[in-house]
Amino acid sequence: MAIQFDRHRRLRTSQGMRSLVREHYVRTEDLMYPLFVVEGENIKEEIPSMPGVFHFSLDRLKEEMAEVAALGIPSVMLFGVPNHKDACGSEAYADTGIVQRAIRQIKADHPDMIIAADNCLCQFTDHGHCGVLTDDGQIDNDESLTLLAKTAVSQAKAGADIIAPSNMMDGFVAAIREALDEAGLVHVPIMSYAVKYASSFYGPFRDAAHSSPKSGDRKTYQMDPGNAREGLREAASDVMEGADFLMVKPGLAYLDMVHRLKESFDLPLVVYNVSGEYSMVKAAAEKGWIDEEKIVMEMMTGFKRAGADIIITYHAKDVAGWLQGGK
Ligand code: PBG
Repeated sequence: MAIQFDRHRRLRTSQGMRSLVREHYVRTEDLMYPLFVVEGENIKEEIPSMPGVFHFSLDRLKEEMAEVAALGIPSVMLFGVPNHKDACGSEAYADTGIVQRAIRQIKADHPDMIIAADNCLCQFTDHGHCGVLTDDGQIDNDESLTLLAKTAVSQAKAGADIIAPSNMMDGFVAAIREALDEAGLVHVPIMSYAVKYASSFYGPFRDAAHSSPKSGDRKTYQMDPGNAREGLREAASDVMEGADFLMVKPGLAYLDMVHRLKESFDLPLVVYNVSGEYSMVKAAAEKGWIDEEKIVMEMMTGFKRAGADIIITYHAKDVAGWLQGGK
């Protein structure tokens, strides 16, 4: 029998046929939308390097959350930008902290909204590192763990559904798990930023969160972009420590890691489409150089194809809107 060389072509003959055989879809249900909350009143301030992304005071957060919920986006990730910063990041674990108050408010208005709380000290410390420092300016890993665990308990008590530690201290998953369990919060899962690279793609976020380190950088606790196998080791140790979700961050330049983690682990896999990735698209779209919708949907499809189950993205509202529009 003759070999059928044109089989692929036959499966692309019409939109209906293409949909029938399509392997991956982007769904609104896959999206998690990051939000920045600030103290004060009547604040909705656009972040200059992230057009379309804002700082919200709690009163203005209400209208934003109503929109997010109406679009059918199932989950949000909260980042707090406090007024008061100090050496030990005390606002991160204060019961009256901005994140804790935001969580309570969102839960009251939208009980079904899944809230992930970023668990890190960098927005809360005056030096801008993700943990606390020793007298000679080094990261004090163990003391940092104590404070991060305290932060996790306080976030979960406020009603957070997921604790998402982005701090990259050694042993952070185990420390947070132990503290949550001791506090009777055994049902609250941990979304570990297992494979987090020391990346320049976080630039716009650091403007947004006012969290650039005052001195030094994050290379001692974030991964070297040149390494892949190390990411598998990081993920394996987080799984052993009790992580419930694994994350790869950033997304676009690290899709090989999404694929590798998907092959090696059976936990839900999250990709963080970070600020720099967002801002590049926005800037090019503003100039009219690219078709924003098509580009963004192609990126989202790429995340799914690589193996992501959940996509954290600043494009979430647009994506949900486009999906509703039947694209
Ligand atoms: C804090 C944190 C960062 C991001 C999320 N959590 C910045 C960093 O590690 O420097 C980046 C998110 C983004 O760029 O969108 N540790």
